[in-house]
Order: sequence, then C-alpha cells, then structure tokens
Amino acid sequence: MIFFSNEKRDTNSYTIGTLFGPWSPQAATAFKALLSARLCAAVWSNISDCDETFNYWEPSHYLIHGTGFQTWEYSPLYAIRSYFYLWIYAFPALIYTLLLQTNKVLVFYYTRCILALCCALCETYFYNFRGVLRQFGPNIARLVLCFLVLSSGMFISSTAFLPSSFSMYMTLLIYGAWLQQHYRVVILTVATSSLIGWPFSVILSLPVIVDLFLMKKRRMFFVKWSAILGSAITLPLIAIDSYYYGKVVIAPVNIVLYNVFSKHGANLYGVEPWHYYFINCFLNFNLVFVIALLVLPIMVTCKFAIKSKRNIVNSSHWICLAALYLWFLVFFPQSHKEERFLYPIYPLLCLCAAFALEMVHKAISNIVPKLSYFYSMCILLFIVVFTILSFMRCLAVYKGYHAPMDTYMELGRIHQEYNVTSLKQPINVCVGKEWHRFPNSFFLPDTDHWKLQFIKSEFSGQLPKPFSTEAGATRKIPSHMNDMNREEPSRYIEVADCHFLIDSDYPESAEFDPPYSRMSNDWEVIFSYSFLDNRNSPHFWRAFYVPFVTEMKCSYVKYNLLRSKHLQFN
Ligand SMILES: *[C@@H]1O[C@H](CO)[C@@H](O)[C@H](O)[C@H]1NC(C)=O
Repeated sequence: MIFFSNEKRDTNSYTIGTLFGPWSPQAATAFKALLSARLCAAVWSNISDCDETFNYWEPSHYLIHGTGFQTWEYSPLYAIRSYFYLWIYAFPALIYTLLLQTNKVLVFYYTRCILALCCALCETYFYNFRGVLRQFGPNIARLVLCFLVLSSGMFISSTAFLPSSFSMYMTLLIYGAWLQQHYRVVILTVATSSLIGWPFSVILSLPVIVDLFLMKKRRMFFVKWSAILGSAITLPLIAIDSYYYGKVVIAPVNIVLYNVFSKHGANLYGVEPWHYYFINCFLNFNLVFVIALLVLPIMVTCKFAIKSKRNIVNSSHWICLAALYLWFLVFFPQSHKEERFLYPIYPLLCLCAAFALEMVHKAISNIVPKLSYFYSMCILLFIVVFTILSFMRCLAVYKGYHAPMDTYMELGRIHQEYNVTSLKQPINVCVGKEWHRFPNSFFLPDTDHWKLQFIKSEFSGQLPKPFSTEAGATRKIPSHMNDMNREEPSRYIEVADCHFLIDSDYPESAEFDPPYSRMSNDWEVIFSYSFLDNRNSPHFWRAFYVPFVTEMKCSYVKYNLLRSKHLQFN
C-alpha cells in the first residue's frame, strides 16, 4: 500500500474513542470516504449550467463521435477555449467507447466516475499526513475532511466538466504540495491550473508564489522551474490547439484578452446582484461558509488573546487565509457572477472554517479550560447541523432538477422499442424554451438518427450551432455566429418538423412559448416527470429539501416528452 499509517505518529496523545482527542482517519480511510461521496455526485448531481453542456460536453462529443454543438467560443475567429483541455476528459471516454462500444449515456457516467476518482485523489493528497494533517494537526485535518466529504458545494462541483472544477482539483494539489514542501509540484500545478484550466485561478496561487519568491527566497529555483514546467505544458497546449483551429492559438491568452480587454467583454452574460455569492456560498456550505467568513477576525483575536509559548497562528495559516480573501476581493465586486467561479476556493473555504473552529477551541482551553468540553460539544452540534443542511441541499437539487436527465434518458428506450437503427430518415427531437436544460449529446442514442433541433421560443439570444460534418470543421469559421449574444434565426426549424418535443408545462405561456403539452391535437405526452417551479416556490423550501414539507410548499410543473401526432417515423 502506498498509503501511510498516520495514526502511528501520534501515539503519545493518540486516544481511540475520544472523539476530540488528537485523532484523525488514515489517508486510506479518508480516500474511501471521499471516493464514496464523489461517486454519489457522479451519479446523482445534475448539470448545473448550460455552459458545461455546450462548451465542454458537446465539443467532446464532437471529438469522439463527429457530431455535437459548437459555440461561438470555438469559432477560430475567437478561439477562446482549448481542445487540449477537452482531450484530457475525452481521452478516457474515447478509450471506453472504442473498447466497449456501448450505450453513450454510459460513457457520460463513466467519464463522471473518472472525475470523481481524480477529485478524491486530489483531496486525499491535500489531506494526507504530510499535508493538512502534519501542518495543522489532526483536529483541523479531521474537520477539513468532514467538510469536504459532506458539503453540498463539493457535491455539485466535484464532477462537473468545467475548467473551474479542474482548477479546484489543482487548488487541492497546489496547497497540498506546498504544505508538503514539494515546490516543484507546486509550480507544476499552478501552471496546469492557469494554463490548461482557468487562467484566473492564478489569483489563488499568488500567496503561495509570494511565499516561495520572497519569504522562502527560492527565486532562482522558482524562475528555473517555472520556465521548464511552463513550457512543458504550453508547447503541447499550443500544438494541439493550433492543430484544431488551423492557426497559432494560445487559448488562455485569448480568454484573458476577451474578458479583460474587449468592450462588452464578460458582462454580456450572468450579471447578478452583490449578494449572489453570499447566497450561493451559504446554500453550498451553510454554517461552514459563515465561519469561514469570520476566520480573519477570529484568528487575529486568538493570536493576541492566547499567551502560549508555541505560536498557534503561523505563516501557513495566513497564506491560506490570504488566498481565500484575495478571491473574495477580486470576484465579489465583479458584476458578472457565476456559481462556478467559486469552485476553486471550495477546499480553502473548508480549511479556513476548520482554522476558525480550532482557534476558538485553543483560545477557550487556554483561558477558561473548564469550557473546553462544552465547546467540543458545540462543534459536534455544528457538524450535525451542517451535515443535515448539506443533505437537504443535495436532495433539493436532485429532487427539484433531475427531470431533464430522466427525460432524455427515455430516448434510449424509444430507440430500442421502435428499432430506430433500421430507419432511413433522422428523427428530430426539438427543444424551445428548455434548450438550456439539454444535458448533452451523449443522451441521444445514436448520431445517425437522432438530432437535437431548436425551435423559436421567447429566448432571443444566440444558440449554439452543430459542428459542420465536413472534415476539418474546427478550422473553418462557421457562418451565423457572433460574440455579442445576438439571436441567429437560422438555428430554428419549424415546429411541424419535430418528431419529438421536450418541454416544461408552466401554467403561464407566451406568444413563442405556447403550452405544447396541452395542445392535444398535435402532441401526445409520452413521458412526464415533475420539475421544480422556481418562480412559484418559496426560497427556503426549494433550497433545502425537507420531506413532506417541501412537497407541500413548493409547486412543480411537468417536464414532458411529447410525440408529434402528425409526423410518424415508423
Ligand atoms: C441543476 O441544479 C441547479 C441548482 O444547483 C439549477 O440551478 C439548475 O437549473 C439545474 N440544472 C438543470 C439542467 O435542471
């Protein structure tokens, strides 16, 4: 086994049975707990954001099967996404497809399970006995592990196919390696995170870089290894992207230029009010987020309140804290806010919350030792409440929003039932206002017969366009694409040409969102699932699932798979 038995190291103070003694699970045990949690996420979490679908799953489907949607970001004119990044995920999926030739939905879930495994490995590296455990002691390590395993934030972010999730894995490795003083690994992962993952994630590693550069005085080392490792990553990145785009492309540079320097830039999408991140973090980390926000005042107070010979707050604490606060400072004032922009700080959020709880514990045992036991009980209560809220959150997301995935999975059954493989003509599955809940083309049973088509709805922005089927499609500038989110009417087909239609049945309708599900002369409902009606459900009950109460308070609509009564294909 490569896992170390860390429990042996602390034999003097190691007390089995006392929950609050200096005890912490072994790396192998931690890994099993983390992997179980991540596999649950792989199976049960939804796709939270259509960016994940259209910017990552779809082009990967194109790389593997030759069909899929292309967004303007992948037009060689803008070239702000990287095919190199896609291949990291598409490669295992391709191997699996080639070896087993199976159901495409399984490939989707298989890829997610691989992500679950990678995430659990990175988390174990962060936690293991030379990392958090040795630097900050078993009390903090135990809390961090508990927060990582149980938080709904990690549940949602761990298996997403997004550069911000990738950067989250890298944050775990960067801080893990830095705590273990593996500085080459630090430089490698910082470079990977910002060049291959998400360029802005470099903000999170600034404190570590400053530490290496100024405090540890490893300047030559830093420059030398940055040059070596940076070019080891950049060269294949440029080679692959330039091959696909048909011109020299450095994708991370393009994305920074687009977001920072273009006139309309990042604010075309997702402008949210100032409290958006506070609410989101609270939903995803509830009590842990509240404590993590307070960590700075708590640490400062404790540093001065405790007169101990050992320095209880050291530079490692400050650096982790600095990274978290730096992120808040940079991202909270931006008007373009997305939940996924927070993913990279999730591990640090868990770490800082654990610092805060443990500092207060130290302060209390130092000043009023009698209260120490009482405080331990409070922490236990804190964990219990946190766990319950996290479960309620995960359940709320699953129960409220998994209808689209189930509905698209029905297509597989239809594929079998009608023996679609023997048909000559393609089958159009249409979406109107529900276009952004399409999970991805892996849910379409095959590429020859099933086509996802868009029909006009009230949405009047730009929709993605299928990749051209000609060879070298990624190099040609696609027609009818803009970077201003202007509507492109050429994307739509007539409703009369749809064999199937996927639509949600909200009570209200509009000119371009007619209630298809109730137009029984034209459509037959063949599958129906209930879906949370956001607008008519109270915030709390829809955000946290409480058995029976949530069902009573929230309203649900039908998410329907409709079949045309006019167009027959069999
Ligand atoms: C997935 O869940 C999130 C809540 O975390 C929700 O906002 C989103 O709309 C859901 N996605 C789909 C496709 O229903």
